[in-house]
Amino acid sequence: MQKLIVGNLKMNMENVSQRDSYCKDFLEEFRDIKTNNHVAVCPPIVYLEYFYKTLHKTGVSIGAQDCFWELYGSYTGNTSPKTIKSIGAEFVILGHSERRTYNHETNEDVARKVLMALRIDLMPIVCVGFVSSGNEMDSIKEQVEIITKNFSEKEIENIIFAYEPMSAIGSGKTPSTDEIHTMIMYIRSIISATHGKECAESIGILYGGSVVAENVTALCTKAYADGVLVGGASLSPRKFAQIVRMLN
Ligand code: 13P
Repeated sequence: MQKLIVGNLKMNMENVSQRDSYCKDFLEEFRDIKTNNHVAVCPPIVYLEYFYKTLHKTGVSIGAQDCFWELYGSYTGNTSPKTIKSIGAEFVILGHSERRTYNHETNEDVARKVLMALRIDLMPIVCVGFVSSGNEMDSIKEQVEIITKNFSEKEIENIIFAYEPMSAIGSGKTPSTDEIHTMIMYIRSIISATHGKECAESIGILYGGSVVAENVTALCTKAYADGVLVGGASLSPRKFAQIVRMLN
């Protein structure tokens, strides 16, 4: 099955010369990569159009790191999913734990954004694994259920989940592949309870948190992730390309 490898560039590349040099290196690295997998990068929103125009020819898709839950109107500072889509983006990361932490996004906020993204055919990558209180499993159950309860089997198939344990983000430490596999199965079981086994098995579930070339194969073959959401390592086109090559 095709894997999805997504680079989340977060709030990096603070000026256009850094942006240009990133894209130049990216083009060099990806020029000769032949992959059957799907690769996407999610730059800061102001660079979305530049990334699309510059990297599209490599076959790499573009995504945003967030969007708003309305399509237009008086929402100062927010970005419409429609604008994101019109630029050529295919994905939008929603509910990342950094947004839940620093922007106080709630499960309800994330669900509204997912609804709007789906309505305009922008594929949401919904991050789960944020824990503010209580345990991880209960938090994940709430985060998944609030999304799935609003949608039919058909609609859910267009949602991708990303299991991102908070302790693994930026720490260089991942849980064991058994632990990750258990959580991926757990997410499927939550979906299965309301939408059936077949639907739950058809959903893409990525893993995110300290993904590097050295662990990506095990994450996809032993933990059975359908792909990866890469933070730090995607800031280096060379390291990101190594991750893509490992899964070929
Ligand atoms: P790191 O790969 O830097 O741990 O970040 C993971 C992440 O937050 C991806 O969304």
